[in-house]
Amino acid sequence: MNKKLYIAMVGLPARGKSFMAERLREGLSADGLKVGVFNNGDLRRAELGAASALPEFYDPANREGRRQREDIARANMFEAREFLAEGGNVAILDATNGSRARREFLERKLGDAPLLFIECHNNDEDLLSLSIKRKARLPEFAGMTRGEAERAFRQRIAYYEQISAPLAAGVEKRFARVDTFRNQILEERGGGELPFYLQIRDIMIADWIRNMYLARHCESEYNVRGRIGGDSPLTARGMTQARALAAHFGGAEIPYVFTSTRLRSSMTAAPVLEYHPDSTLVALPEFDEIDAGSCEGMTYAGIKQKMPKEYAARSRDKYGYVYPGGEGYVSLKERVQRGFRKAMFLSGAAPGVLIIGHQAINRVILSLFMYRRNDSVPYIYVPQDEYFHIVATHRTKLLEVVRFTS
Ligand code: F6P
Repeated sequence: MNKKLYIAMVGLPARGKSFMAERLREGLSADGLKVGVFNNGDLRRAELGAASALPEFYDPANREGRRQREDIARANMFEAREFLAEGGNVAILDATNGSRARREFLERKLGDAPLLFIECHNNDEDLLSLSIKRKARLPEFAGMTRGEAERAFRQRIAYYEQISAPLAAGVEKRFARVDTFRNQILEERGGGELPFYLQIRDIMIADWIRNMYLARHCESEYNVRGRIGGDSPLTARGMTQARALAAHFGGAEIPYVFTSTRLRSSMTAAPVLEYHPDSTLVALPEFDEIDAGSCEGMTYAGIKQKMPKEYAARSRDKYGYVYPGGEGYVSLKERVQRGFRKAMFLSGAAPGVLIIGHQAINRVILSLFMYRRNDSVPYIYVPQDEYFHIVATHRTKLLEVVRFTS
């Protein structure tokens, strides 16, 4: 007999539930299972449109709004049940499912197969505000300014908070709580007895990168003068390279472009955005080049001459060395990794993501995907006319170098 399972997502808005549901759909389908996702938000938008984007719709005191939301949850639940009855293996109910009453209702009504709750957890305020900015661009907020849409979305979250209760041992039988920023399982109960649970675990903790293109900014004024750090613009040659990069990605799907906050990185992104005006551009300070402290703006020869001890110390241990008043590779790792996780969380299930970083930054990102001893990370070759194409899911891994200039 066909094994069957219901998964009900749990969590406040903008916590990565839909991305997790999509990962589960994609990953379990790749393993040959029939998977369906039943998203309450999609149904709500189709049936009720922009009226349901207003915060009042989510006010627990709004009886009519509550009734409409319950109707949608019920409709999706029946769809999910039908899907399993007709040969499906896994039906994923993608909604906040925050109240105990809602979850008890699901447990009562979905008696024909076991039910696993997956709670998506993430309380990083910075990430939340970037996610909300992204949500404010959704078509359902078309009638509002960006500011109004962001406020409406925050109010929606506040209303959901009023009725939400976390999953708890002794209340829900089977659940997993996942940190969707770090891809870590924080707590799990009763999963061992469920079908497909080992695959589900693998998917929950895996990186999920469909296509990541990791490029370095193109030639800058400081590159030509051999100076480190700073915030110089691209040279004319750098602009030509940037246009070649943009032309190379002209036909690709890259809904997200991440840069640092430095001019050379955003100037490299500008022509790409001309080809892809609908792409979302996010400048992350976490991707700013290594801070060379009191050596910022100097040449390597200048450092050797004026600060010979510093130069010698860095030559001896480039990974462990920290610039006076600045950073070293050893201290860089945490912030770069954080930026990287932010980028992956925000771009979600996007088919392609372009990151335009810097030499040291890209070395650290690459070290997350290819095994390198720490002391060799600062020597990874990061050219300005090639990029790295990376794919990573629970089953696929790819890292290839692609040249974009002729
Ligand atoms: O020279 C370009 C640059 O991006 C500098 O801004 C930065 O300090 C340096 O590369 C990092 O490379 P390395 O660690 O090899 O000095």
